[in-house]
Amino acid sequence: MQRIDTDVVIVGAGAAGLTAATELVRAGRDVVVLEARDRVGGRLHTDVIEGAMLEVGGQWVSPDQDALIETLDDLGLETYPRYRHGVNVYIGPDGEVKKFEGDIFPVPPATEQEILTLIEQLDALVAEIDPEQPWAHPRAKELDEISFARWLETQTDDEEARENIGMFIAGAMLTKPAHAFSALQALLMAASAGSFSNLVDADFILDRRVVGGLQLVPIGLAERLGERVRLNQPVRTIRWQSDAAPGQAAVVAVTDDLEVHAREVVLAVPPILVNRISYEPPLPRRQHQLHQHLSMGFVIKVHAVYETPFWREQGLSGTAFSPWELVHEAYDNSNHDDPRGTLVGFVADEAADGVFELSAEERKARILESMSHYYGEQAKHPVVYYESDWGSEEWTRGAYAASFDMGGLARYGADLRTPVGPIRFACSDMAGKGYQHVDGAIRMGRLVAAQILEELA
Ligand code: FDA
Repeated sequence: MQRIDTDVVIVGAGAAGLTAATELVRAGRDVVVLEARDRVGGRLHTDVIEGAMLEVGGQWVSPDQDALIETLDDLGLETYPRYRHGVNVYIGPDGEVKKFEGDIFPVPPATEQEILTLIEQLDALVAEIDPEQPWAHPRAKELDEISFARWLETQTDDEEARENIGMFIAGAMLTKPAHAFSALQALLMAASAGSFSNLVDADFILDRRVVGGLQLVPIGLAERLGERVRLNQPVRTIRWQSDAAPGQAAVVAVTDDLEVHAREVVLAVPPILVNRISYEPPLPRRQHQLHQHLSMGFVIKVHAVYETPFWREQGLSGTAFSPWELVHEAYDNSNHDDPRGTLVGFVADEAADGVFELSAEERKARILESMSHYYGEQAKHPVVYYESDWGSEEWTRGAYAASFDMGGLARYGADLRTPVGPIRFACSDMAGKGYQHVDGAIRMGRLVAAQILEELA
């Protein structure tokens, strides 16, 4: 067992952990980053599958994500817009395929009115919510006791309107069924993006991508940190004390090979993995309890690569939605300067459970069948096909991120970021602005670094 002494040990080399490390090093502090995997980036991963460059995890950047945009600029990374010329496709409850432009789906006029009213109501509620402390809203408890599905039922009898509005938060963001999370959790999701209207606006929320892939952010940060980042080092145990003498190590992070002694530790891991580490002494009751009320959403990100972006010849943008399809949303995901065309589609929560009951071949056939409803027969014949399955990843266990169960946000949300002695927490899953996104991970990394610098000053 090798011993290392440092100021701050950071567990996890995702965007949050690497940002915290970068800020601390900039301020002259010594850090060690311990990463379980054999690569940096966590939920950001660009891979080459059968010759196709695929962004297996996070990829899109939206214009309000200033923390991420500043980091992209700092690293000299270029972005390009998602292809969106042409008409979008919507499939309604009767299976009819309809083309449309703009944000509002081509639904019957009465349903369109209900959708517009729901968006207005949600925007008004979201404007009252501070994403940094949604539990402080005067009606927080009440809104956290009703599921988003039930809340929608109290607003409208129009099922098509409910399904569409529900999809934007449920399948598309929290990747849980709308009956499994509260209205307050839904409002946090929207508030973290500025408004509900922003979430509905694919041109806003899925605006740009990074040339070479978004994993270049953690890769670039890690390159600057050099040997401070240690791969293949899952942290098994944290020994800690609250009453260490000033300047003395208050914490030891233990992996299979290393003992890192430090004054503070940052757990930059998804909150659902905090309990996977042993603590000596154990974490307090509050942490034992609150981490049991969070769970990861679940979505399969499907990548289908074709010799050409054939849908563009039909005047299609590639953007497609239907709450009634197995693939509830899909987009043109062709890479920058790549003559081939790539479609990305998403299969969320219970639908994803269902197709994982099937053989790989049957699942692929079902998913491509669903995509062919949007783009035609050609969609069934990609040259490369790949499913990102983050649910099987030991060091993530779902996608995109974690959210509270019913009542959990109002009850425990305020304590999610509260440090325990020398132990601090940072992750996209506990962000306000940028919640569940890379922008939020960077914000949490910056915040925790600023707090540590103040503490160590
Ligand atoms: P992250 O999970 O990335 O990092 C935590 C790190 O800790 C990991 O590297 C893990 O291996 C490590 N770790 C865990 N336990 C450990 C232990 N005991 N010891 C040592 N290391 C340990 N966001 C966005 O902005 N735009 C998008 O388009 C998308 N799309 C998207 C698609 C998919 C499929 C996914 C899975 C996610 C997205 N996201 C996204 C979300 C975004 O990728 C995510 O919010 C951030 O990358 C999370 O960064 P963090 O650093 O907070 O956690």
